[in-house]
Amino acid sequence: MCGIVGYVGEKHKTTEVLLTGLKALEYRGYDSAGMAYFIEDTIKVSKEVGRVQNLEKLLQEENATIGIAHTRWATHGEVTKENAHPHTQNKFTIVHNGIIENYQELKDNLTKKGYLFQSKTDTEVLAALLDFLYKKENDILKAINQLKDYVDGSYALGILCLDDKDTLYAIRKDSPLIVGIEEKDSFIASDVPAILKYTNQYILLENNEIVTLSKQGYTIYNEKLEKQEKEVLTFEGDITSAEKCGYEHFMLKEIYEQPEIVKNLVDYYLNLENNDFSDRLPSLLKYKKIHVVACGSAYHTGLVFKSLMEEYAEVETIVEVASEYRYKKNFYDQDTLVLVISQSGETADTLAALRKAKTDHIDTLAIVNVVGSSIAREADQVLYIYAGCEIAVATTKAYSAQLALLSLLALKLAYEKKLITKEQKQSILQGYIHIDKKMKKLLNQDYEKIVKRIYNRQDIFFIGRGIDYSMSMEGALKLKEISYINAVSYAAGELKHGTISLIEQNTPVIAINTSEHLKEKTISNIKEVKSRGAMVIYITNEDIEGDFYDEKIVIEKTSMFLQSLLTIIPLQLIAYYTAKQNGCDIDKPKNLAKSVTVE
Ligand code: G6P
Repeated sequence: MCGIVGYVGEKHKTTEVLLTGLKALEYRGYDSAGMAYFIEDTIKVSKEVGRVQNLEKLLQEENATIGIAHTRWATHGEVTKENAHPHTQNKFTIVHNGIIENYQELKDNLTKKGYLFQSKTDTEVLAALLDFLYKKENDILKAINQLKDYVDGSYALGILCLDDKDTLYAIRKDSPLIVGIEEKDSFIASDVPAILKYTNQYILLENNEIVTLSKQGYTIYNEKLEKQEKEVLTFEGDITSAEKCGYEHFMLKEIYEQPEIVKNLVDYYLNLENNDFSDRLPSLLKYKKIHVVACGSAYHTGLVFKSLMEEYAEVETIVEVASEYRYKKNFYDQDTLVLVISQSGETADTLAALRKAKTDHIDTLAIVNVVGSSIAREADQVLYIYAGCEIAVATTKAYSAQLALLSLLALKLAYEKKLITKEQKQSILQGYIHIDKKMKKLLNQDYEKIVKRIYNRQDIFFIGRGIDYSMSMEGALKLKEISYINAVSYAAGELKHGTISLIEQNTPVIAINTSEHLKEKTISNIKEVKSRGAMVIYITNEDIEGDFYDEKIVIEKTSMFLQSLLTIIPLQLIAYYTAKQNGCDIDKPKNLAKSVTVE
């Protein structure tokens, strides 16, 4: 989604900082980019449709001071230069991340007051509103502070005003914004990678806080316009987490990082010396029902969790996509835990679902990657997965880290409920300690033969039962996200109720079969498609010979708590190499955004 960066300082060239920031924000997904900066007393605005590289020529701009920049992911108005940010109305030039829900009403009122609009965006309306409020108040800070009284929606704003060429103003409400600090130089950004080349020191802005950046430093104000002292945080990752480090794509790098990340997570949430859980892993014993709410791949990890919770911990676990959950009637009570899962911690629908549960006084637990993100801060309890910066739009390492943590929660509960013995628990925990080595082995396998059989196909089916069905959903999502092949997942037993009519000679079907008690059932379903001509790629943890598949990938057999951490690797690599074979823009798939901050 949209990304913001801004800079005030003397150490670096403004346009260079802004372009570096925009490039680092590219991963969020965007379709146009732009920037604005002061040159003496005037504000110069440049914007282009397409990649940030189109703005590269601005690097020649020597005299730029104080500047703001933006990558836009179109919401209001199509992808055009007019709709790209920054937007200017009279004295104000702004960049915006978020959505203004009452923009049409505001626009109508401002039009009556004489404002004319060049774009179809909600952002330009905010620029006009700021100008209007400034004329009324004659004070920039007061004008910015009044936005909340007029605007419904979310916004992180970088603001320049012609009447103050020494200051960059910014405010946030429900869209993320941080302030970066490098001695007297200061930055604003949607997230830390945008400024990591210059500093790892940052402050998280709270809703309705305003920051002013000048060459003398930064000042933060609360909504009463009182100055605030805020904690300066240190970003723990280093710049390598935002660099490809020799890999052709971030996605491949992140796939290869998985064993290490899972190992670190296991070290953190287990007490290795005692072969037990560490105190950092909470108990879910008091809950009779769990509602898991998430989007995309995080939703898929919730489905794996559901299978483990119901099968081994015997707790009813309902999993819903957040965009549905937030608007439906939910049957929860004080015995229910609402568990939200989000890599970014900023996904608008997931955040809204969390807030709904909180309003209804239901306990909430969040599993999040980005430290200090909105979901992490608002949930009653947060468990971090510590997967580091994930740059590729298609999630891989955060997905695996979520799986590992969720499975530990289920295992702990099963043990607390005495549904597994101490010996069983200890043997499974030993599996966690060695899972990284098994994951590494799968990373080193060759998937070329499989990719050759599917890369030029239009439709691919993924099937499985139980946990394998959840894995097939993630496998299909990965493939369609980055290779644009129509990949559809089905519960293996459901195929015959319609979908099997689509199976023709040579139709690719990727069949996952790792669950002991469902193995024979799944094989029967595979035979059903095979006998109708399907080309079957069989992913299994049991190396049996048979005539019901064309290609086979064998993964090691392990406890069901851990099996999905192995199943996912071939699925990710098949998607990656298929997309590569098709020349796709793997790290930045078309139309997708990494962090979906609009509903
Ligand atoms: C987007 C991303 C997906 C991600 C989903 C949820 O659609 O492209 O990879 O799974 O959002 O994101 P979250 O940050 O909440 O996990």
